[in-house]
Amino acid sequence: MLEQGEDAFRKIFRLYRKRTSLPICPGWLEFRSESPESVAWLRTVELSVGSVSDQDAANVGLQPPRQWSAYHVDGYPGFLFISNPFLPGWQHHWVRQCLKLYPKKPNVCNLDLHMSLDNASDLWSSSQAQLRNKSPKRRSEKTLLEKLRWVTLGFHYNWDTKKYYREHQSPFPMDLAALSHCVSLACGFSSFKAEAGILNYYHMDSSLGIHVDESELDHSSPLLSFSFGQSSIFLLGGLSRDVAPTPMMMHSGDIMVMSGASRLLYHAVPRILRHPGGGDLPPCFSLPPSSDVSSPLIDPCSPSDWEVCKSYLQSSRINMTVRQVLEEGGSFPEEYDGHSKKVSQGDSYHSKEEMQDAEEQGLSKRLKSAE
Ligand code: SIN
Repeated sequence: MLEQGEDAFRKIFRLYRKRTSLPICPGWLEFRSESPESVAWLRTVELSVGSVSDQDAANVGLQPPRQWSAYHVDGYPGFLFISNPFLPGWQHHWVRQCLKLYPKKPNVCNLDLHMSLDNASDLWSSSQAQLRNKSPKRRSEKTLLEKLRWVTLGFHYNWDTKKYYREHQSPFPMDLAALSHCVSLACGFSSFKAEAGILNYYHMDSSLGIHVDESELDHSSPLLSFSFGQSSIFLLGGLSRDVAPTPMMMHSGDIMVMSGASRLLYHAVPRILRHPGGGDLPPCFSLPPSSDVSSPLIDPCSPSDWEVCKSYLQSSRINMTVRQVLEEGGSFPEEYDGHSKKVSQGDSYHSKEEMQDAEEQGLSKRLKSAE
């Protein structure tokens, strides 16, 4: 039954947000099950395997595209799920980039308004010692890295105006652009340009509210989403919140592509879950970081950096979304000018989640009192 003022999406969101045990409903999608091919509403996808060479895939830490397991879900044309196509030992690099490199200036993050530039410019340095020595038995003050909720790359998304601006831009990381190029090409999008990134950082009690990614000026290009660390429930809905969403599990290494008729669907992440299989980290991290340096793009994750990432990931999930903002050859409309220095005051994207959990409320209070 819907409560007054509650839409079908929110009802399911609340169900998954609150439940301590997992409600496995009909229609629930677990792409890592023994035989996802046998699920009536999943279709195996033939990727455009010839368009990406094995070497180009390996250069960004991916298996040859012919070995990827990719699925369409009935009822969601344009939505594609690729079940962890990363090479063993290579997700480590992307986790390290999300924690050590991408939060650095000139990129923008949620802590910028509350920290001195020095702190904000190197969250890693100020957090690494504490994370390395973290004991699960001792409660300790959160490190800055653990307070990180989002980072923006390329054209920086403005959370207040929900727009991107020509003047508020920094160079898009080359390695992430190459990863995105490889995935989009294999999925048949030969002209995709990685122009903006939003990285989301989750802990075990975090969630991401119901939203549509519609701020990009070109919706004909796909939105790519990469997940690392602990697992999560992803809810994929319809063009209106009155459509009940389909729940699906996302595990470390999984990639989602939202394109075509699925590009503007409502979606949300109501829950982070420990990865299945026991142990602190997903099995894909059981090998040490690969030290193969043959890639011109990737600087392998050192064992010492991995110690810090490992400690962080034991109770966290990282998601990187990559978007094309402008259509090919397009530019920003005139009314988008004059916002070059506008810095987001709030984080409406995450706070769109109307049921902020205690952890987030605690954080925002602590940050406010530090102002
Ligand atoms: C998003 O919707 O922008 C991120 C989803 C996720 O964390 O998987």
